[in-house]
Amino acid sequence: MKLLLSEKEIQRKVGALARKISRDFSGREVLLIGVLKGAFIFMADLARKMTTPVKMDFIRLASYGSETQSSGKVKITKDLETPLRGKDVLVVEDIIDTGITLQHLLQRLQTRRPRSLRVVALLDKPGRRKVDLQADYVGFQVENHFVVGYGLDCAEEYRNLRGIYVLGKNSE
Ligand code: IMP
Ligand code: MG
Repeated sequence: MKLLLSEKEIQRKVGALARKISRDFSGREVLLIGVLKGAFIFMADLARKMTTPVKMDFIRLASYGSETQSSGKVKITKDLETPLRGKDVLVVEDIIDTGITLQHLLQRLQTRRPRSLRVVALLDKPGRRKVDLQADYVGFQVENHFVVGYGLDCAEEYRNLRGIYVLGKNSE
């Protein structure tokens, strides 16, 4: 396992994201929606560094269909408890890979008529994208490696690591 992003680098970046987001939403309340499970640590740090009032909720998704299919089906397995109508909503994602999960999620959330709907992703793998989608705020762009730590797992392991690591050598 090779260190890709240290705890210090991550915290510095999360601070910068929080400042930018707080500036963009200044004076408005933001509803953070964490996509479980991967985003829970990022969201905890981001929320505590933001200076605008925030509320928080979580959603959990499951994708069906093989990795090689261009459009897997995405199902909500744990829904939000907060109505979105008229709210400024910021979806908090750990990583955008193919973009399929996020595209489905945004389509679903848009039907609930939020005032605004944006996305922050700590990590982005643009080289793996299968749908045309970009986050409004991105922490780091990463190569097409499988990464773990800071919420991200491999078979539920490694989520509690403070840094982000590349798993294995041939994970291209
Ligand atoms: P997408 O639909 O392909 O964009 O899948 C995104 C989801 O897959 C993320 O929210 C992660 O849960 C998971 N994922 C994608 N790449 C990685 C990785 O490198 N490490 C851990 N989880 C990943
Ligand atoms: Mg995720």
